[in-house]
Amino acid sequence: MSNQQHNDPLFQPFTMGDLTLPNRVLMSPLTRSRSSQPGDIPNDMNVHYYQQRASAGLILSEATQISPQGKGYAFTPGIHSQEQVNGWKKVTGAVHTAGGRIHMQLWHVGRISHPELQPNGNLPVAPSAIKPEGAKTFISADSGMVDVPEPRALESAEMAGIVEQYRQGALNAQEAGFDGVEVHAANGYLLDQFIKSGSNHRTDEFGGSLENRLRLPLMVIQAVIDVWGKDKVGVRVGPTGSFNGMYDDNPTETFTAFAKHLNDLGIAYLEVVEDSFQGNHASGRPEDIIDAIRAVYKGTYIANGAYTAEEARTRISEGLCDLVTFGRPFIANPDLPERFCQNAPLNEWDDSTFYGGDEHGYTDYPTLEALETNA
Ligand code: PHB
Repeated sequence: MSNQQHNDPLFQPFTMGDLTLPNRVLMSPLTRSRSSQPGDIPNDMNVHYYQQRASAGLILSEATQISPQGKGYAFTPGIHSQEQVNGWKKVTGAVHTAGGRIHMQLWHVGRISHPELQPNGNLPVAPSAIKPEGAKTFISADSGMVDVPEPRALESAEMAGIVEQYRQGALNAQEAGFDGVEVHAANGYLLDQFIKSGSNHRTDEFGGSLENRLRLPLMVIQAVIDVWGKDKVGVRVGPTGSFNGMYDDNPTETFTAFAKHLNDLGIAYLEVVEDSFQGNHASGRPEDIIDAIRAVYKGTYIANGAYTAEEARTRISEGLCDLVTFGRPFIANPDLPERFCQNAPLNEWDDSTFYGGDEHGYTDYPTLEALETNA
């Protein structure tokens, strides 16, 4: 370890259950829409991409659908078939061989889908039959972005089946060799739709009061803990995100209540999108909500949202977070921790190659070492 690493908050190791993270520079879950078709199966190109990024303190996989119903975009990978499990085994094996650690992000999109992507051309499902304002998806390589339709409200009797989808996804992730899982409860997907008042108008025990809105997400998290143990389960929330047509009447109250439950469950970490998805925090971080969550949630706190290395160092030093996930910088810099360690310049990302396509804009971003060799 260099002298610089000794003093740099980003390079203080961090213990999470039986994992020791060598640094605090984590890779965000990032949809890249490059699985093999048909079957939404992770492939060798995906293996290469994750293996290139194994120096992250922890990799969080791209959001991965737990069931055919949980799929919302063309080309995103799943964790519900044996072929998918086998594909992910190659990913986790390559990351481990390269010295890294990787959690899988478990995903059900709820209403952010389209009959073209759903089994039997069904409508997407949601807590309530409310069409999300402005939400779009893409259903094929040449469809462009299309509006999502008004979803079908789930019956009360279907909730056990939703929990079962997550339980099976968690089991499959275990078989695939992940080090843990993250339950995606942010960015306007199914669990966020239950949590936030704007998308949940149910009158049964899964809606109405705040405690009722939290019921299904907490049942899901408990089921995932039953599979993995609490030390290997994280949760991602986005209290103020408006992406995918989201709104909550009182995000401070809602997310403080949720964080209290998560604290009691003793999960491995809470990852907070402190911003909107793909935000630049132009309007500032919601410090009041972050403080309120931190006051009740005593476990490991992972901050997310357009952080620079310098901001991450400052906030870790001030005790405002333990770890930070980086998204777009990790897309363009496979060796992001090394760049941060050396205060080296970063490759810029090309947002035209974020979603779909081939190796270009995926596995062809150079490391510092490659740039120096070619200079
Ligand atoms: C997306 O595919 O656009 C996407 C997926 C997961 C997120 C956010 C965006 O959390």
